[in-house]
Amino acid sequence: SFTVELARSALTLEVPAGRTILEVLRENGVEAPSSCEQGACGTCLTKVLEGTPDHQDVYLNETEKQANASMLTCVSRSLSDKLVLDI
Ligand code: FES
Repeated sequence: SFTVELARSALTLEVPAGRTILEVLRENGVEAPSSCEQGACGTCLTKVLEGTPDHQDVYLNETEKQANASMLTCVSRSLSDKLVLDI
């Protein structure tokens, strides 16, 4: 599991194995837009302020993935213990 800190919502959430960031956001009442939920459409694109995402999507190109400045919350996870998202 890893921790997601929501910078604008002042919430800190735990994302367990087998759950997506998007699911955890919604379970905690955070409104998060999505469409495909398969990492392809870009609707759930979220700015990353801190931490290293584990990119699992097919939407961002390699340069964008390496920049670690944004991620797709429907499929991607975290390589660091904590991610800080601009939500
Ligand atoms: Fe389509 Fe996340 S909802 S990429």
